[in-house]
Amino acid sequence: MKNGENSGADTSHGARARWVAAPAKLNLYLHVLGRREDGYHLLDTLMTFVHVGDGICVEPAENLSLTVEGPFAEGLDAGEDNLVLRAARGLAGACGVTDGARIRLVKNLPVASGIGGGSADAAATLRALCDLWRLSPPPEDMAALALGLGADVPFCLAGQAGFVGGIGESLEPAAVPPPDASGASVVWAVLINPMVALSTPAVFAAREGPFSQSSRFKDRPREASELVALLKERHNDLTQAAVSLAPEVGDVLGALEASEGCLLARMSGSGATCFGLFGDEEGARQAAAAISEAMPLWWVVATRLAADSAEVTFDGEIAAGS
Ligand code: C5P
Repeated sequence: MKNGENSGADTSHGARARWVAAPAKLNLYLHVLGRREDGYHLLDTLMTFVHVGDGICVEPAENLSLTVEGPFAEGLDAGEDNLVLRAARGLAGACGVTDGARIRLVKNLPVASGIGGGSADAAATLRALCDLWRLSPPPEDMAALALGLGADVPFCLAGQAGFVGGIGESLEPAAVPPPDASGASVVWAVLINPMVALSTPAVFAAREGPFSQSSRFKDRPREASELVALLKERHNDLTQAAVSLAPEVGDVLGALEASEGCLLARMSGSGATCFGLFGDEEGARQAAAAISEAMPLWWVVATRLAADSAEVTFDGEIAAGS
């Protein structure tokens, strides 16, 4: 595993305080292939990161503690059940660590919104604490620990855009999003959440109709339009279910589809966050500004896609854009 590659020393909080970015994920497509006996669904999904996320800061302490701050701190339970603390306790238990840590979570992402905020936080906590506690557990142990915390945590921990299968444990890197000459994604996105929290189990339970086929591709799209052409042949199988529970999702998709320059509008994960894909920064920023003005209560962000979570930095502020 890669330890602390996103982190930076924060001397204002002690020499060993480390910030680690917890970038959001997007499901570029999501096919539901079947349902296991334990209720979990088998998926074929293509996932990527964006330059928007939460932040985790850890520093040495005798005991484990968590404080939550930031725009979406309210309403998030910082108690023992919080995924960040569960990740910390799981790592300490697996590695026989008796040290504690003071953990701060900066919650920039809406909660229960289909862009993997809680999973990103858990993965960032594992990375940060491996760095703080100087641990290098075997990758397969880390992957198992991650999966026990949530189906999206292995992807967030591995940090590479790609196809995800099983219930979230099977990872295959993919050549997306297309990079420019400097390696940065040429694809931009506008993320919108109508400020409706959707329960993932409720959305899966509301899904109707037959299961889909796996639809991985071998292509290496070179431009936003080529990626979008591939995505248009695929879909998010949870969209109808999410719309039935939260009709606002349909309004968000409509607003994105009506935006100039929007190449594709789609829901991420089990919603309610939707994204529009754009071939340039200016188009994404203009669309975000226009929608934000028309719908001031929606959470609207323009951001670049990221193939590797290590591209995404966090210094205590929301990292949106480059
Ligand atoms: O693993 P995680 O806690 O993120 O999953 C939350 C819920 O979402 C599960 O309890 C399950 O109802 C549903 N889920 C699923 N199939 C997946 C991932 C999640 O049915 N592959």
